[in-house]
Amino acid sequence: MIQTLEWTDSGVRFLDQTKLPTEETYVTCTTYEQVADVIRNMVVRGAPAIGVTVAMGIALGIKNSKAQNVSELKQELDHICDAMRKTRPTAVNLFWAIRRMQDKFERARVRPIPQIKQTLIEEAQRMHAEDIAANQAMGRHGATLMPASGGVLTHCNAGALATCGYGTALGVIRAAVEQGKKIHVYADETRPFLQGARLTAWELMKDGIPTTVISDNMAGAMMKQGKIGAIVVGADRIAANGDVANKIGTYTVAVLAKEHGIPFYVAAPFSTVDMETPDGSKIPIEQRNAREVTHIGGRQMVPDGVEVENPAFDVTPAKFVTAIVTERGIARAPYGESLVKLAGAEVVSL
Ligand code: MRU
Repeated sequence: MIQTLEWTDSGVRFLDQTKLPTEETYVTCTTYEQVADVIRNMVVRGAPAIGVTVAMGIALGIKNSKAQNVSELKQELDHICDAMRKTRPTAVNLFWAIRRMQDKFERARVRPIPQIKQTLIEEAQRMHAEDIAANQAMGRHGATLMPASGGVLTHCNAGALATCGYGTALGVIRAAVEQGKKIHVYADETRPFLQGARLTAWELMKDGIPTTVISDNMAGAMMKQGKIGAIVVGADRIAANGDVANKIGTYTVAVLAKEHGIPFYVAAPFSTVDMETPDGSKIPIEQRNAREVTHIGGRQMVPDGVEVENPAFDVTPAKFVTAIVTERGIARAPYGESLVKLAGAEVVSL
């Protein structure tokens, strides 16, 4: 399995996704500041991977701490969590991971400092293992929705690279292929950062799953030609009413799917569901550097001084979403009710 990120004795090790698909190189972070940087710079990306990275960054920062007592250690924890909060605002898994590590700290704070440190390291490692287990469970649920054969379109990268392994949307595809379904993936290239062209194509080719890369503006034509039987994407945050924030361009794909009568599925762990955000209009959308739009491969593509927008995500209203696949089961409209039901369902834990 692809090792997107892992805890090692010398630090947290990441497959450098900015170098893929041409170079497979790794970066090891030895401080929490470096971990925050690799999130910001997209060495590691994808909502579930960001969540576990944050947990490992917190564990690393606490491990390195020279605090002499628990209240000093708590102050450092707060400082580290603040640094993590400022990295990327849309993926709610980031905030979920901070809360989980803070809770763990509170329960462990009566113990000696070396034990508190060890508890946080183990919690981050548990979150890593749980993420893979959740993806495999999601895959089993979602595979039932995939066609027996034919084209399945995906946008961005919601694969092993966006998680600790196996993937969410690509986990659903992997599970369907493992069950013998003959799926051909259409991967939107995903301008401006090209996660589809660089990452989805790379990891599916490694697995021998037939894949065709298309530029984003080809998706409608592929649907019209009958090449696409289903669409499956990931999510960065799902509001309580089922509105879905995901990579910019997802909304366009969902609207096109509706026009062509193609089912549009979202696969995400329950940690991506944000029951405290009532609807998509309240989801903060990250704005990234204009250079991602103005330049391709270091070459300028637009005239000097032109205005540029670069929202990293958009929101797909729940009315376009056929079903939401989680490790706890499949939710369908009305999502206000089905997500509440899943919130009370049994949790995948190790
Ligand atoms: O900007 P990115 O690459 O972090 O955006 C990733 C996505 O939009 C994914 O689809 C989403 O995080 C789900 S990953 C399982």
